[in-house]
Amino acid sequence: MNQEIPLMDKIVSLAKRRGFVFPGSEIYGGMANSWDYGPLGVELKNNIKQLWWSRFVHRRDDIVGIDTALIMNPKVWEASGHLANFSDPLIECKMCHGRFRVDLLLDQAMVDGKSNKTMEMLKNWSVDEVTEFLNKNIGPCPQCKAVGKFTPPRQFNLMFKTFIGPAEEQANIAYFRPETAQGMFVNFKNVLDTTRKKLPFGIAQIGKAFRNEITPGNFIFRTREFEQMEVEFFTHPADAEKWFEYWLNEQKTWVKEIGIEEGAVFIEIPEADRAHYSKRSVDTEYQFPFGQKELYGIAYRTDFDLKNHMKASGQSLEYTDPQTGEKLVPHVIEPTWGVDRTMLAVLCASYHEDGEGDEKRVYLKLPPKLAPYKAAVFPLIKNKPELVTKAKEIYDNLRAIFPVAWDDRGNIGKRYYAQDEIGTPYCITVDFQSLDDKTVTIRDRDTAKQERVKIEEVINYLRSKI
Ligand code: GAP
Repeated sequence: MNQEIPLMDKIVSLAKRRGFVFPGSEIYGGMANSWDYGPLGVELKNNIKQLWWSRFVHRRDDIVGIDTALIMNPKVWEASGHLANFSDPLIECKMCHGRFRVDLLLDQAMVDGKSNKTMEMLKNWSVDEVTEFLNKNIGPCPQCKAVGKFTPPRQFNLMFKTFIGPAEEQANIAYFRPETAQGMFVNFKNVLDTTRKKLPFGIAQIGKAFRNEITPGNFIFRTREFEQMEVEFFTHPADAEKWFEYWLNEQKTWVKEIGIEEGAVFIEIPEADRAHYSKRSVDTEYQFPFGQKELYGIAYRTDFDLKNHMKASGQSLEYTDPQTGEKLVPHVIEPTWGVDRTMLAVLCASYHEDGEGDEKRVYLKLPPKLAPYKAAVFPLIKNKPELVTKAKEIYDNLRAIFPVAWDDRGNIGKRYYAQDEIGTPYCITVDFQSLDDKTVTIRDRDTAKQERVKIEEVINYLRSKI
């Protein structure tokens, strides 16, 4: 029987086979939920980050970028509220000792029609009542299937702890940052003093964040180390609502630009589910093959962070309006994007199959600006030196401008399919006619149609398409 392979399995398999994403530490049997980006994965990820940086930093006058430390003074996390509040409710199965997030189990029980309660609804119940309810209503242990064996829930802090220096003692505890945002808040004054920006303006950062997630999983969707692209946009409090709408629109435009708008939805987050610092939040959710899940977020962080850092550090983080002399603590709108989730959504949206039997092909319909290679160059036959020389000349000219692949192995059909599978939008073939009339064929990945183009026009042709 020909059983259809689930889409997610196909994507994970292609990612490994073609060098986008490898299981982490694989030669040692791997490490659960750890992933490494391979030669093509790092290109795709860099293209996402470069597009974002170009759009939100280089092409704007009102945003500057920074790059701050992964391990910050622990006082930062006290002031930001992460040490007290950055936790998820966890239960443990007494049989297999698997640990699970209660909120996710409740969400699943709701989808399965087994319960109609959210975490918020259990908020005022006693621990015993909650434990009894969970054991009766959230089904068996997801890992060992034991029934009714969950411990009472407790809060589990997601901060990744480490020690500074050789002594592993309380005074030396430090944390890997769980968000890039705090690097922007603690440098607010430095940026203001060095750039002389006026409100409203933003600080942007791309970098790694670390969370000791209870239930990582779904490939690169939820991992313990991941990358974020964040903007902290500082504004006069009176204009904050307006800027929230503006940034929500920017996030809507972004999903269009990277070709994932189909499958993206924008969800207003109720107060009970918002982060401790947020007065309003809207999540961008995406229809992943494993369900509709958070892709991005936007939060109205008010003056929560700057005020708390002022209090804890004793430093003024006030802004003085140069026109009116008004002194104020700016309010913050924070749009945030996960890099790894972007890459996963882009892979899911671009995965296509067509044809039957020998004609069957898999292709990634990546937007050309995100594709690891913009084009591939082939000599039609490998053992004809005049074809190889001409093709190499074109290849060398092109790769001074774009990332371009070279392939002279096997038959031409297989080479086309190999490039389709990694999303290369154009394949350029040098054949015998090329030697006579100085043209090449250019094949389009999505239509598989070819056209003849003059060699001297190839760069312009690709530029106009990419
Ligand atoms: N500064 C705000 C903040 O960190 P968040 O919603 O907790 O907000 C922002 O995280 C984004 O980071 C998420 O929308 C998601 O794209 C990504 N993200 C969060 N946790 C993640 C994880 N464990 N694995 C991969 N990406 C994650």
